[in-house]
Amino acid sequence: MHTTLGGTPTSATQPRFPIESVRDSFPALKHAAPFVFFDNAAGAQIPQVVFDAVNHHLLECNVQRGGRYPQSQEVDAAIDRGRRSVADFLNARDSSEVAFGMNATSFIRIVSLAIGQSLADRKEIVITDMDHEANVATWMALEPLGAKFRLWKMRDDGNLHPEDLWPLLSARTRLVACTVTSNALGSIVDVPAVAKFAHDAGAELFLDCVHYGPHGIIDVQAWGCDYLVCSGYKIFSPHMGFLWGRRELLEKLPTFREDFIPNEPPVKLEAGTFVYENVAGMTAAITYLENLGKQVTGNGAKSRRAHVIDALTAIREYEESLSLEILRVFEKSGATVYGVRQKERIGERVPTFLFNLPHVSPQVVTEELARAQIGVRDGHMYSPRLMERLKLSMDSGAVRASLVHYNTLDEIQRFSDVLQKLSKHG
Ligand SMILES: Cc1ncc(COP(=O)(O)O)c(C=O)c1O
Repeated sequence: MHTTLGGTPTSATQPRFPIESVRDSFPALKHAAPFVFFDNAAGAQIPQVVFDAVNHHLLECNVQRGGRYPQSQEVDAAIDRGRRSVADFLNARDSSEVAFGMNATSFIRIVSLAIGQSLADRKEIVITDMDHEANVATWMALEPLGAKFRLWKMRDDGNLHPEDLWPLLSARTRLVACTVTSNALGSIVDVPAVAKFAHDAGAELFLDCVHYGPHGIIDVQAWGCDYLVCSGYKIFSPHMGFLWGRRELLEKLPTFREDFIPNEPPVKLEAGTFVYENVAGMTAAITYLENLGKQVTGNGAKSRRAHVIDALTAIREYEESLSLEILRVFEKSGATVYGVRQKERIGERVPTFLFNLPHVSPQVVTEELARAQIGVRDGHMYSPRLMERLKLSMDSGAVRASLVHYNTLDEIQRFSDVLQKLSKHG
């Protein structure tokens, strides 16, 4: 069921994941050593090429776009390159379907404000109890406009099941707002199945792809979604966000814009000036993935998208080995892991783990890990409904360790040592 999204096509000829050269690409890993970055869900480190691209932009063309002089024309070209790179990253039909901005939350709100103005006789919006609040509160803010909400609940097995969505849908459903991957639990949702159900009911699908972004292949066409957001700063890039939407839907959205701004995507979604140097950084992050794809296959002659797919296929496989190892560590430490924990369901998750140790508060766990130079996070993970569902308090919540492809088995061993000590002595 999860093969499109979560499955890892393994191949006997696939070479070993080049972890040493991956780590060499990220200067912060060296600068901060021996610090371990296990809080990547809150923002990942950047490769040198991303830093260089941001620097280059600021030093060579830090001017407003749309002018008739070379530096300004270079800004226009950089934005255009960014759109085409992100379009390849997402498999968008056209780069005009990609808009740049501050972050994912503000883009969800831009779309929710527009949808709120066009609810008509489809006033119901499906939200989930597994989502980050950014993809819940932004929709619930439409209540004064007459929107009604249906809650799609996660099952006790730690994931949303599309067949539970179907009974919530009707001719009154305007939109399903759902995550691709939980930022708290790491569970990957079967979004092509969600899209099919939503469309069969005549509704649209808005996907929060923020957490899935650094971990796997995104394919807006194969998934059949209508809107999707990502945060660049989770995908090895600086702080920025991007929105993708089907062109014909974006064309119809009533967004705020000054009268002289054309009512066309992407400019109708990009009120004001966004951070151009960070778009240059995002472009470079995709180039980093492209180069990693070339490296893992040894074949440099494919399209950018094909190389990115190779990179993310290798990343998925490597990250699954990290997930299997850390699950062993949790088992040994007697930790409660919330969400998908069976080895045979490993393809249904990314290496993001929410857990608690018996008789030790989440805060003490994160403080002890910080003393051992390991950065994780405790709290509610911006997912209040999920906390309620898991019977965790909003004040203390749980601990989250979130790994990406530059993390290692050795780092997991260090994490394990602290957990073992804590579980023995509290
Ligand atoms: C799944 C998910 N959605 C949305 C957001 C909000 O993203 P942003 O900070 O870009 O608004 C986050 C941030 O952590 C997230 O993890």
